[in-house]
Amino acid sequence: MAYDILIVNGQVVTATETLRADVAIVGDKVVEVAPNLRREGVGTLLDAAGNYVLPGGVDVHTHIDMPLTDTISSSDDFETGTRAAAFGGTTTVVDYAAQSRGQSLKEAIELWKAKARGKAVIDYGFHCIITDLTDSVIHETDELVAEGVSSFKVFMAYPGRLMLDDGAIFRLLQRSAVNGSLVCVHAENGGAIDVLVKQAVAAGNTEPKYHALTRPTIAEAEATGRAIALAEMADASVYIAHVSCQRALEQIEQGRMRGLPVMGETCPQYLFLSLENFDVPAWEGAKYVLTPPLREKWNQAKLWDGLASGALQVVSTDHCPFNFRGQKDFAGNNFTRIPNGGPGIENRLSLIFTGGVLSGRFSVNRFVDLVSTTPARIFGMYPRKGTIAAGSDADLVIFNPHRQYTITANSHHMRVDYSLYEGLSVTGVPEVVLSRGRIIVRSGAFEGVAGSGEFLSRSPSTALRQTTRG
Ligand code: URP
Ligand code: ZN
Ligand code: ZN
Repeated sequence: MAYDILIVNGQVVTATETLRADVAIVGDKVVEVAPNLRREGVGTLLDAAGNYVLPGGVDVHTHIDMPLTDTISSSDDFETGTRAAAFGGTTTVVDYAAQSRGQSLKEAIELWKAKARGKAVIDYGFHCIITDLTDSVIHETDELVAEGVSSFKVFMAYPGRLMLDDGAIFRLLQRSAVNGSLVCVHAENGGAIDVLVKQAVAAGNTEPKYHALTRPTIAEAEATGRAIALAEMADASVYIAHVSCQRALEQIEQGRMRGLPVMGETCPQYLFLSLENFDVPAWEGAKYVLTPPLREKWNQAKLWDGLASGALQVVSTDHCPFNFRGQKDFAGNNFTRIPNGGPGIENRLSLIFTGGVLSGRFSVNRFVDLVSTTPARIFGMYPRKGTIAAGSDADLVIFNPHRQYTITANSHHMRVDYSLYEGLSVTGVPEVVLSRGRIIVRSGAFEGVAGSGEFLSRSPSTALRQTTRG
């Protein structure tokens, strides 16, 4: 059989091994991974000498084209957002489709499918955010799982807007244990935070940094512990989204030590940024208003340790970009009106490779595990996504582990006017990116096609009972 594409001379890296092998592709699949494959008749030969060949990144937490108010939506649509993801070596996203009050979950998913159709350049799936948990919505979750939407998100924050009470979250967790779905939790104590916010505003403390200071780590830790307790009572798994601090991480560690199927993700912003980022001219701080907020710097080392030890299993981005000019700066002198969220879909692999592998915190295999394999496993896409093996989708990254670059909004591909990491030097660059056997990025140029990304019907999780690493 002649291969359509053959990648030669690279070091193939998966979550479990590093080997010198060629990777052969026919159509949209990897068909062979072995040394010295036949080169005769090959359509395209890609030389990966000096580079790693990685499975494409899997980012399981994004908010692309997400309406926040009637007039403000996150600034990337599915074309610009997924193109930026591709430049950064990510070939799969699982985006959060949000149910409006009174809306069925199916309507929310159809709306998000319409946003992505004709635009996405890489494959995409959806979680569904549940904001209105009626009896019919509980039943609908079974149907969504059957249609490939096998995870849901609930908020323990933002009362009156997004928050579900403990009873509703508990009911959803019970149902998830029956239908095989996974509940992702935004864990912050919304009631207490709302009181702190009102008190800060009344005292005239309205600058951006007060967004962070009114959301203390104990509010995240308390809600994380409560989410884990609710899951334990429901005999369900639970996935804690965007863990930002040591106190919340401790709750996850304790749950896992007790053998509970608790999983957690963190995001690059919590590993690289801190409260010190608010030390900028007052309203520039709006760039760093995201939720959960940035924390005291010492938390970063604890989160890195959690990634190395296996207490945290995933690095996602929570990519939720809003322009500084015209979106974030519209808030006037009031942090409560700043759109929450920041950009990052393009930077994840370089940041985690630099901070994790090159800093000696974990191996290149653990890096692949965190940014690709385990997210694919937890969210029901493995082994189609998240590894390099015969039969897997040919979503691949030829990754140069030596090339350095400086992150800047002037050259990034996200449709947003600032970078959270402006001026930061990182090492590790995707030189060639393939999505299902098509070259979509090569030598800094985009070669993909809008609309070539497909909706991914995901299985119930294959890692639901995974309480330890491996
Ligand atoms: O500030 C953030 N992260 N906005 C996105 C919504 C969320 O809670 O993940
Ligand atoms: Zn959240
Ligand atoms: Zn989010």
